Amino acid sequence: MRILLLGSGGREHALAWKMKQSPLCKELYIAPGNAGTAECGINIPLPDSDIDGIKEFIRTHNIDMLVVGPEQPLVMGIYNKLREDSSINKDIIIIAPSQEGAKLEGSKNFAKEFMKRHNIPTAAYQTFTADTLKDGYAFLQSLQPPYVLKADGLAAGKGVVICNELHEAQSALTSMLVEGQFGQASNQVVIEQFLTGIELSVFVLTDGQSYVILPSAKDYKRIGEGDTGLNTGGMGAVSPVPFADARFMDKVEQRIIIPTVKGIQKENINYKGFIFFGLMNVSGDPFVIEYNVRLGDPETEVILPRMTNDLVELFVAVGNQTLHAIEINIIDESAATVMLVSGGYPADYEKGKIIYNIETVENSLIFHAGTKRNDTDNLITAGGRVLAITSLGENIVSALTLSNQNAEKIKFENKHYRKDIGKDLMS
Ligand code: AMP
Ligand code: GLY
Repeated sequence: MRILLLGSGGREHALAWKMKQSPLCKELYIAPGNAGTAECGINIPLPDSDIDGIKEFIRTHNIDMLVVGPEQPLVMGIYNKLREDSSINKDIIIIAPSQEGAKLEGSKNFAKEFMKRHNIPTAAYQTFTADTLKDGYAFLQSLQPPYVLKADGLAAGKGVVICNELHEAQSALTSMLVEGQFGQASNQVVIEQFLTGIELSVFVLTDGQSYVILPSAKDYKRIGEGDTGLNTGGMGAVSPVPFADARFMDKVEQRIIIPTVKGIQKENINYKGFIFFGLMNVSGDPFVIEYNVRLGDPETEVILPRMTNDLVELFVAVGNQTLHAIEINIIDESAATVMLVSGGYPADYEKGKIIYNIETVENSLIFHAGTKRNDTDNLITAGGRVLAITSLGENIVSALTLSNQNAEKIKFENKHYRKDIGKDLMS
């Protein structure tokens, strides 16, 4: 098959690495990719949201399968735009939800209403606009701190504000609704009850009828050790999640996964792709914190190395709606990934630093995120998150030890990484 993969992060390198192992994968293109994906296929200098450019590439290169990594093209409706274009081969397999399905990530209010309609456990909430600002103040007053405010639309992972004081929450609401803090994304704001617990990520792949559950993972979102400081895309991840045992996962499946997939069917939403459940374990009961309509990054970098399935075969089954016949095979070993980031990230950081010693890494997988080659073919940094170092081990401790050793060996100016990934799960 001729496959086109969209995206440029560690997630996409892991997807490219895994798809490349399939005998079904004859040609692999990545748009725009990074220096790591260039080792698995051919990078195309096309932004992942350039839908016209992507269409043109699909036509001229007879692409049979399109796999979409990040949320932006999904929320822009890439699935519908391709399906509605008569010049695009109808037989192409597209691993993506429709634009309606992508609203589960693209609109927090849509996601909350969907959960309400299908009785899926989530935090109690109300939604406000600039016209109902005063009602928003009153609703905040009725809640106990901390206060959780969420911009409705995509805000590059920064749209959630958590405040300890009522007056802070009220002024955050004003900035979002009236001062356009997150632009159009904060024209509506969801205010919800704060849930206390421990977070995890659960992923399914669905063909719109049946689904398979992928290995569970936990990511570490904050920049600083002990989960402090600013939110990032994710500084590391582990899989499996020890507390996500069979009993807990059964609750997740019965209360959350099945009603979500059935809800998608009942609402006639076309959905052939990944569903990412951001969950909170509240005293043994799972609640949905958020839906995403794609794989997580860096969760993908620990999930795919634990799966022995042929990923392209899985995607073909999604296309043909024969996923019910497929079993997911997961190895017993644990996986851990540690993300090396540019100093200053997630605020301002410098790019273009030469990356040294990557060839000295042993027994770990390196998934590239923000990397590229310069004119003299040196590997250089090209983003905030630079490299994910994934290791497998008998348990999380041994996997992490290996990743941390290799994280230390790789050098670039102002390199930063968290040395406490997975520590909270070890006690
Ligand atoms: P989100 O972008 O929806 O994943 O939210 C970002 C982070 O805010 C989540 O990963 C949680 O740590 C936190 N968060 C979101 N909603 C809640 C909630 N209702 N209660 C507690 N923490 C939350
Ligand atoms: N690691 C969280 C995300 O991909 O959104």
